[in-house]
Amino acid sequence: MGRFEVVIEGGSPGNTVSSTRNFHRLIRLPAREIGVEGRLVGRIFHLSDSQLADCKSPARYEWVNQFAGDPAWSELIPGYRPQEFLVAAALTAMIRTINETERVREGFEVAVFTGDAIDNAQVNEFSNFLAVFGGGSVCIESGDRDRSYVYADGFADGLFWHPDPGAGSDIYKREFSFPSVEGLLEQAFDAFVSEGISIPWYFVNGNHELLVQGVSPAMAELDAIAKGSLKQVGPPKSMEDPLGSALDRPAELFTSGTAREVSLDARRRLIGRRDIADALWSAPGVPQGHGVSQGSEILYYEAALSEEVVLVALDTAYASGAASGAIAPEQARWLVRVLESYSTAHWDEAGEPVAGTGIDRLIVVSGHHPLHTMNNQRALAEEYLGQDWLARTLLRFPNVILYLNGHTHQHQVKLLRRGDGSGFYELTTGSIMDWPNQGRAIDIVRSKGQLSLVCNPLDIDVPTDPDNSDGIQRLAAWHRLLAANAPVKLAQPMVRQVLNLPLPRWLI
Ligand SMILES: [Fe+2]
Repeated sequence: MGRFEVVIEGGSPGNTVSSTRNFHRLIRLPAREIGVEGRLVGRIFHLSDSQLADCKSPARYEWVNQFAGDPAWSELIPGYRPQEFLVAAALTAMIRTINETERVREGFEVAVFTGDAIDNAQVNEFSNFLAVFGGGSVCIESGDRDRSYVYADGFADGLFWHPDPGAGSDIYKREFSFPSVEGLLEQAFDAFVSEGISIPWYFVNGNHELLVQGVSPAMAELDAIAKGSLKQVGPPKSMEDPLGSALDRPAELFTSGTAREVSLDARRRLIGRRDIADALWSAPGVPQGHGVSQGSEILYYEAALSEEVVLVALDTAYASGAASGAIAPEQARWLVRVLESYSTAHWDEAGEPVAGTGIDRLIVVSGHHPLHTMNNQRALAEEYLGQDWLARTLLRFPNVILYLNGHTHQHQVKLLRRGDGSGFYELTTGSIMDWPNQGRAIDIVRSKGQLSLVCNPLDIDVPTDPDNSDGIQRLAAWHRLLAANAPVKLAQPMVRQVLNLPLPRWLI
């Protein structure tokens, strides 16, 4: 049993979690000072996967964590994280961090959030996410202000962390030396005000927006459970195929085991694509709609990021279930048309060059799912398109320079190349929710003969020790400290990287 402490492992040179203020020094560096000569044509703050949760919802199955390590349950785990009730504060502090970086100039900086903004496909979760991003009052409380949720003492046999000093033992205190923190729950469930992001931001749809716990289709039975007053606190009496149940008979996961009465809240209604578009259109901040069209169920779009850069945002979530992604046939046809419209030349599917009629722009594609997770078997059986099609299609268009995504809660950089050395980078950015709680700042720099993508890790600018701050900053510091000490830490912190690509011919 280790002592509960700040964990610093790996980290970016000069920019580990212990020295987050160095971020400002790094991001302000002109590219040439780190060996990159050229002209900045756009800066993207890439954030992903906050999984902002209604922690008291009856439509969450936190108890699945007791089956950690059992392959039959692996697709449904984790259902709970000890830091999850603090993530709204962490995201608010991240937005303040971005606001406090020096602005380059109007029209050059945007934020792109690549999905899983919320945890459980609920209306009240998405309203809180939009209040955090757009500015306004945020309150993660739902139901009555009581302890009818898993953090309450005596709830679910100590499977969850109970911060109250008077609470009994739990697995986090026993096995991971988690502390008691007086007043943390009360403060986290109090309303607070987010200042909102000061630059344009774009929303990309993820599986946790449409699917209960990121897996189960949002069917009417689950909507009734979400809005109801009975919360299951333990596993069903028997469950031979957990994933199959989650996909086809999800109500079983919420109704056939030990349950407790909880306070109900109609705002826990499950959300759909049209609700998401409507909420984005009535949210504060710019641009209005944050990329999506008004009055539509279509959450994929194109948008100009700067004079030379366009964003092409995909919607890779599959509403009929499973966490993995795919692209519907009509969206695939749309994507090809958009890529053609921003290219004067490309290759056809047979590999033959095609002279097009589009206008040339640098194309940044974004979606929630990394290419290797674009393999939703049910969707592919319905003629959706997956990883092979998407990779091949993006490679056919030489103006595509990036595919930004999230989902795995890990940072990853991959170069997909053509035979001539050109290609695009797939950048997967880790989550706000889990360690190391970072985003990525990407400077697109045009120089003689090449494009440089200067990627800086983006740490939440709060002290390492929560006791050295107060208010939202203190909650955000607790969020990161708990995430750093949680038993599951998938990701390594990001290091700063300069990624180079040959300049498209039209820019030479
Ligand atoms: Fe996801």
